Amino acid sequence: MKLDTIITGGTLVTTSGRTRADLGIGGEKIVAIGRNLASVSKDARIIDAKGLYVIPAGVDVHVHLDLPFMDSNSSDDYNTGTRAAARGGITTVVDFAIPYGEETMNQAVDNWFKKAEGIACVDYGFHGTITNHRRHLPELPRLIERGIPTAKEFMIYANMGWQSDDDGIFAALEECRRLGAMLMIHAESSSVLSLLTSRVDNPEDKKKYGARLHTMTRPHYVETEAVQRAIKWCEVTGGKLFIVHLSTGPGADLVKEAQGRGVNVLAETCAHYLVLDDSVFGRKDGHLFACQPQVKTKADQKRLWQGLRENTLCNVSTDTCTFTTRQKSIWNGDYSKIPMGMPGLETLLPIVYTHGVLKRQLTLEQFVRKCCTDPAKVMGMYPRKGSLEVGTDADIAIIHPTRRIKVDWHKMETNADWSPYQDWELAGFAETTLCRGAVIVEDYKFTGQNGHGCFVPRKNPGNQ
Ligand code: URP
Ligand code: ZN
Ligand code: ZN
Repeated sequence: MKLDTIITGGTLVTTSGRTRADLGIGGEKIVAIGRNLASVSKDARIIDAKGLYVIPAGVDVHVHLDLPFMDSNSSDDYNTGTRAAARGGITTVVDFAIPYGEETMNQAVDNWFKKAEGIACVDYGFHGTITNHRRHLPELPRLIERGIPTAKEFMIYANMGWQSDDDGIFAALEECRRLGAMLMIHAESSSVLSLLTSRVDNPEDKKKYGARLHTMTRPHYVETEAVQRAIKWCEVTGGKLFIVHLSTGPGADLVKEAQGRGVNVLAETCAHYLVLDDSVFGRKDGHLFACQPQVKTKADQKRLWQGLRENTLCNVSTDTCTFTTRQKSIWNGDYSKIPMGMPGLETLLPIVYTHGVLKRQLTLEQFVRKCCTDPAKVMGMYPRKGSLEVGTDADIAIIHPTRRIKVDWHKMETNADWSPYQDWELAGFAETTLCRGAVIVEDYKFTGQNGHGCFVPRKNPGNQ
């Protein structure tokens, strides 16, 4: 057996447990798992993982790279975003191809291919986006043929021409059911949000409350009402629904209750909802933290961690949508103008590892499940991605069990000139990352190649 690379002496961690074994890589694949592999393939490159965890690399199924959004363009493109991913131990990202104006969904996918090709450093896939259900739903079969069996609808963003109303959600779920595809939903109640926003649309309130208006105009029911409505349409159509970036504890309760009745609904949360709370908006730089939905309360964090443990929530994503401090400064005191979104790819695994595993909110195996394996499963990429099995892609992250590194945006690969976690001491950064057999992070530094990343065609989504 010819092995190109052997990871020796580490503890392999999967969703089902830990094993001490070597892992042998030939070309882009894992080809052997066993003891003393170095003795059978003498000229292989050896990566010493003694005392370290060897996990399937992370899979982030919710990113926005190079996204034109809110009079700006998100600042991590397919190069800086995927370099950040690599350093964070993530080797697959799935982005949303969004049609602008009269574009078709497939044209949007063509546009997103152009953004990624030649510069992506880790693998990538796309979700479609339905912004006009009458025009876009007939395109779903072609999208599925292209390896894109998921599409998103937004329940907000009427101003950007992206919003879907109940008829669009209902029709999309019916079509997804027929085709075996999955509808993803950004669940917030547009009309109530607009009403609450209009009530503070005056210079006095904007001056008085600043960035705190972001949270004041988005009480929990803005999300929970929408989640409940989407679940109802899922239930009556028999479609398959995935709620993106769930931010509230009561939202998790609704998902759990619906799953208990047999409704085909999945939900993700994001790292920031697990560790940040709305006190950030009282900070001098509070406007930097504005994203939609906004971070909520400590009680929500607690319920979301529980949701991960009990499998109400299937994965943790980043919703990476990076804006620099300069881009964010457009707000000039008006919270409604802040470009919404935060960087996250470099810190996803470290946040969930440090605040999940080291704080005993998740086991090591649950961490692997929520950040690596289940996102690949529910998005139709498993076992190629998210696993450590012979025959699958050699996408691997090697992490130290306890070594902490202080987050400092100056030293990061993201294009952001700030981090929501600046100065936090986090363990779980990838000491080494491999993407399809290539070493792309060594000694915590990015060493990969621009253009190494490939498109990953996906099958119809699975279950966790
Ligand atoms: O604030 C966010 N999340 N920006 C990205 C767009 C979205 O709604 O996911
Ligand atoms: Zn969203
Ligand atoms: Zn998003």
